[in-house]
Amino acid sequence: MKTAVENMREGVREEGIRRAGEILRQGGLVAFPTETVYGLGANALDPEASAKIYRAKGRPSDNPLIVHIARWEAIGRITGELPAQAKLLSDAFWPGPLTMVLKKSPEVPYATTGGLDTVAVRMPDNEIARALILAGGGYVAAPSANTSGRPSPTTAQHVAEDMDGVIDMIIDGGPVSIGLESTIVDLTEDIPVILRPGFISQEMLSSVVGEVRMDRGLLADDPSIRPKAPGMKYRHYAPKAPLFIVEGERERVQEKINELSASESAAGRKAGVIAAEETSDGYSHAIVRTIGSRKQEITIAQHLYAILREFDLLEVSVIYSESFETPQMGAAIMNRLMKAAGHQVIEV
Ligand code: TXA
Ligand code: MG
Repeated sequence: MKTAVENMREGVREEGIRRAGEILRQGGLVAFPTETVYGLGANALDPEASAKIYRAKGRPSDNPLIVHIARWEAIGRITGELPAQAKLLSDAFWPGPLTMVLKKSPEVPYATTGGLDTVAVRMPDNEIARALILAGGGYVAAPSANTSGRPSPTTAQHVAEDMDGVIDMIIDGGPVSIGLESTIVDLTEDIPVILRPGFISQEMLSSVVGEVRMDRGLLADDPSIRPKAPGMKYRHYAPKAPLFIVEGERERVQEKINELSASESAAGRKAGVIAAEETSDGYSHAIVRTIGSRKQEITIAQHLYAILREFDLLEVSVIYSESFETPQMGAAIMNRLMKAAGHQVIEV
């Protein structure tokens, strides 16, 4: 299959959106930018179209898809009875990087929800995404547009690395603004539960709906406690080289990483280091990538996946990363980094 590329780096182009919408209506696949990561879209109400997404990604079929809408009024058709919290959270955070898990209506095929009676719904805050959703019929199922197990794409080039020749179209909207997937909150129980941390933090959700919990499966080191979002149990975002997070007091972290990198280099191999702008000058004997500034935590989120992809290309033998427990996005950043590291932490 030849994959068409539509350039919309300068903004929405109506003709391209019309063509992309037509592909979706006919059951095809279009990758598109959102504010979080690039999505791989298909008509969410068409089971055959959803099935194509699983094939293109190599994704296990029990891992449900998020349904993207562009207007609040669209939610009624795909959900059962709505809890009051849904409207409150929508007023506060939609369009934006928040996904709500709700009871599904019979119109949503099980092929889209991975066999579940609930549906995850999100209204993205990206002009191209919203125009595409409307042109495609109003309901677009979209996981991140990466091959299953690779880091999520934050540019159209990343999408092409994984999906060229496999899908109908890629819309290039330039680099995304957040860089980590949306926060997922489950509203099917009395107290909302965060199934995946993201830009919208626990505190931000609590300020609107009161008590909000973190899924036990997210917090536990114990793998027998399963996360409730089926996708969170898979080994995700895994770079080719083993990744270790080095935690502790700043100078000690630098010393430790330098010592480990030096012995790697002495053995004729090269280590990669992920460091913040404030400390990246302090490393030697390694390929150092500056992820962003601790003073602007969004810059750290924006670059994480691109750096993991780059280290795959550079074929480093091991990766050492500083830890980034920043105030708002720290939970999301560390959740993704810990998964990429397979929970390997070196305490100094
Ligand atoms: O930011 C995002 O959410 C991006 C962009 C494209 O919108 N999408 C995304 O989709 O990250 P995906 O498929 O990579 O991750 C969806 C996650 C998976 O962990 C999945 O298991 C969970 O959402 N999920 C989907 N439907 C669910 C449901 N009904 N109940 C529980 N978890 C659900
Ligand atoms: Mg994903």
